[in-house]
Amino acid sequence: MKLTPFAILAAAAAAAAPAPVTKAVAVLSPLGSSGVSGSVTFTKVAEGVRVSARISGLKEGVHGFHVHEFGDCSAPDGASAGGHFNPGGEPHAGPHDAARHTGDMGNVTAGADGVATLDYVDARAGFEGPNSILGRGVIVHANADDLKTQPTGNAGGRVGCGVVGTAKAD
Ligand code: CU
Ligand code: ZN
Repeated sequence: MKLTPFAILAAAAAAAAPAPVTKAVAVLSPLGSSGVSGSVTFTKVAEGVRVSARISGLKEGVHGFHVHEFGDCSAPDGASAGGHFNPGGEPHAGPHDAARHTGDMGNVTAGADGVATLDYVDARAGFEGPNSILGRGVIVHANADDLKTQPTGNAGGRVGCGVVGTAKAD
C-alpha cells in the first residue's frame, strides 16, 4: 500500500497526540509577606473536576478562592492574574450556582492553625474547551467571598497565588 503524504502526516499527528489531561496541580506561593502556601489538585471525574486543596499560613476564618484568568503570579499583589476566569461572560456567584464565573470556587475556611482544606466536585471546570483551567491562576484572598458582590465577591486582597499545570495522571 502506498501512503500519500497526507496519510503519513495524519499518522504522525495521531502518534504525537498527547493523552487527554486528567489531573492538574497548582502550587500556591505567598503574595507579599502573607506567608500563605499550599497546593490544589484538580482531578477529572465523571461529574466534572474534583478540587482538593490544602492551604496553610492563613488568618483564621473564611477566604475567597478562585481560578483567575491568567496564570501569572508575578505581580507582588497578584494583580497579574487578572479577574475571575469567566469565559462565558456570566455574573459572579458561588461554585454551585447555575450562572457563575467558571473560576468561582467559593471559599476555604482556615482554622486557628491557619490551615484550610477543601474537597468538592466542580461541575463546570475542566481541562479542555472554553472552560479549561489549565494554565490559569489560582488565587486565595484575604477576606471571605460573599458570592454575590460583582464582579469579585468583595474578597479583598490576594494573599496566595499559583498556576494550574498539567500533573502526572494517577
Ligand atoms: Cu479571586
Ligand atoms: Zn467570580
